[in-house]
Amino acid sequence: MDTKLVFLVVCLVSSSSALDNGLALTPPMGWLTWERYRCITDCAYRPDECISERLILKTADLMASEGYLEAGYDYIGIDDCWAEFERDENQRLVANKDRFPNGMKYVADYVHSKGLKFGIYGDFGTLTCGGYPGTLNHMEIDAETFGDWGVDYVKLDGCYVDIELMDEGYPLFGELLNKTGRPMLYSCSWPVYQEELGMMPDFDSIIKHCNMWRNYDDIEDSWRSVDDIMEYFGKNSKRLATYAGPGHWNDPDMLIIGNFGLSYDQSKAQMAVWVILAGPLLMSTDLGDIKPEFKELLLNKELIAISQDPLGKAGYRPLKKSQISVWTREITPVVSNRTSLAVAFVNHNDNGTPRFGNFTFEELEINTSEPFNGYDIEDLLPSSTQKYTVYQSNGRYRFEVLVNPTGVLLLKLTAKASS
Ligand SMILES: *[C@@H]1O[C@H](CO)[C@@H](O)[C@H](O)[C@H]1NC(C)=O
Ligand SMILES: *[C@@H]1O[C@H](CO)[C@@H](O)[C@H](O)[C@H]1NC(C)=O
Ligand SMILES: *[C@@H]1O[C@H](CO)[C@@H](O)[C@H](O)[C@H]1NC(C)=O
Repeated sequence: MDTKLVFLVVCLVSSSSALDNGLALTPPMGWLTWERYRCITDCAYRPDECISERLILKTADLMASEGYLEAGYDYIGIDDCWAEFERDENQRLVANKDRFPNGMKYVADYVHSKGLKFGIYGDFGTLTCGGYPGTLNHMEIDAETFGDWGVDYVKLDGCYVDIELMDEGYPLFGELLNKTGRPMLYSCSWPVYQEELGMMPDFDSIIKHCNMWRNYDDIEDSWRSVDDIMEYFGKNSKRLATYAGPGHWNDPDMLIIGNFGLSYDQSKAQMAVWVILAGPLLMSTDLGDIKPEFKELLLNKELIAISQDPLGKAGYRPLKKSQISVWTREITPVVSNRTSLAVAFVNHNDNGTPRFGNFTFEELEINTSEPFNGYDIEDLLPSSTQKYTVYQSNGRYRFEVLVNPTGVLLLKLTAKASS
């Protein structure tokens, strides 16, 4: 074959292999209603929690004034249960008139005035999971409506639809979003519904049409749920990591830090594993009522830097041994040509006392090939009851760690240059 032609083919393949709308070049960061606020619609009884203009405006104010926006959390999204049960006479979706008395464009404009971007939820099926109107027979008008409102992020769920339709329907809605001319981050629930039925989703196509996608179950407000999601991503992490990159990310679901279900150690563990997986960082908590240590964790600059690392390489779990899982992510080298890594050790054992672990660098797939001068190591989430030691025995590098029960030790390794 002519070499020019080969080059051309390669270019075509690589340029069309991932969604190219200029968005989500690093994992999206923001806030989403679902895990904390669900489908609460009774504003008379629960005025501070119902899905409403008031909740979104209040949260937008807090994101701008409390340092979240500055730290990188720039999307604010409404999940399900925002709509009227009926479309209007032009078949357009309508925001619930009691809870969004000024309509959705007003909310989007307000969010934009704070320097934030606005996200909304739809469903590919006939109904949303909460029973509100779905998009299936109204794709074009819904894409247009979102564009007209000034939406920047669309999450498209997958309730009430034949799974067989997804492989065509999700790409089609993505193309309709594109046609509006307004760049909208496209979050797809496409693979999770398929994986749940034991199908292997068409990731070549998913990467090409979605900026992010849900792989596994909805997160709940408990360590059991976080642990279960970690196990799914851990078992599948080498495969899943190959799908992620600038513009397209796996989504292990929202951060539940600051809510009722996680201790401080467990919250650190969620944050550490999510940044290593290059998952979107979407908080779902009451930002007006969050304890300072949880807020600080969400705003931790060093963790956010790992999440947003420009290499855009998702990490994975090389090993789980005696109830400690280890997660590694390659990040931009501090010293050129020399690996920098984030390494998290999560202790899944909850029986009350910090747990000892002992690992070789080989087991953790950490490179010690020549020229190797060791690593500088920094503890990014120090705790007085945790520690780590690196030593060499029989020519092999080893880690010894002590990790809190359902906690995490998060280290940043920077390969040393030769002295
Ligand atoms: C639409 O898709 C084209 C081709 O991938 C891309 O260059 C453009 O930025 C997209 N526009 C929007 C608004 O998403
Ligand atoms: C380091 O990187 C530079 C520039 O990319 C390259 O020329 C050099 O060969 C690399 N050195 C090593 C030891 O890999
Ligand atoms: C760690 O493992 C190595 C090899 O099995 C062993 O020599 C060493 O004693 C272990 N360290 C501890 C503290 O158990």
